[in-house]
Amino acid sequence: MPDTAMVTDRIRIVPTGGALGARVEGFDRTRPCDEATCAALNRAFLEHQLLIVPGAPMTAVQMRDFSAIFGEVVPQLLRYKRVGELPEVSRMESTLKPDGGTDKTAIRAECWHSDDSYMERPAKGTVLHALEIPSRGGMTWFCNMYAVYEALPEATRRQLDGMKAVHAYDTPRALNRPSPRTAEEIAETPDVVHPLVRTHPQTGRKSLYLNFNRLDRILGLPRADSDALLNELQALAELPRFHFGHRWAVGDAIVWDNRCLMHRVDVDYPAGEPRIMLRTLLRGDRPA
Ligand code: OGA
Ligand code: MN
Repeated sequence: MPDTAMVTDRIRIVPTGGALGARVEGFDRTRPCDEATCAALNRAFLEHQLLIVPGAPMTAVQMRDFSAIFGEVVPQLLRYKRVGELPEVSRMESTLKPDGGTDKTAIRAECWHSDDSYMERPAKGTVLHALEIPSRGGMTWFCNMYAVYEALPEATRRQLDGMKAVHAYDTPRALNRPSPRTAEEIAETPDVVHPLVRTHPQTGRKSLYLNFNRLDRILGLPRADSDALLNELQALAELPRFHFGHRWAVGDAIVWDNRCLMHRVDVDYPAGEPRIMLRTLLRGDRPA
């Protein structure tokens, strides 16, 4: 798609042609990023909500430095996933273990969610980098929440604007239970309240802010009405026309915008085949 691709002297931004996302071609992740290229990447991130940047497998230090192009890399909640010498980088093992010892967070990621929404200031973006992938399956899917919001009838948008919702580390609405937290981690994750409709602080566009692993209830509604409304919004967000799916290659790095996307993984890959990623989170603002 040469007419829509943006070209600088070093990189090309090629839209996926789907509901969101673009692929970055010609970018060398092993070299420091110059100012103009960093600015072009950040513009493309806001325009496409997700960038796929292929390359060779990175060390934790390279992963941190690459992530820092897009923002401030912050420590993640779950201590047991942190890479020892570099607490801002987590090692995410989503291998399906034949003995049943699969990490619970791998299974939880099967539900549509936005990372970190149970935090007062959720991460604006996530960077995920594939070190080892199974021979088939394990695609990651993304949902364009600008488009979901824009697809709502005007009257519904007016009804939702101004509503607030409780996000919790766990909720009985979620299909699966999350990894247990240490006492320190529990203290850092009290329930929080976020708007149901948020305005992106950089693009000014509105999107629905949903997370079906963490969203417990809408404030001011009886539980049954809150459940009914959330189920209705979930059914809309599950329509394939809002989605883009990524089939991983070893070495891929993907950076996505948690403020206007949800994501989920297909837990359909062969048991015993390693699926190992590095992950960073980028500091975000309080949703408003
Ligand atoms: C995550 C996540 C999905 C995947 O790391 O936040 O949801 O495909 N990962 O591993
Ligand atoms: Mn996630």
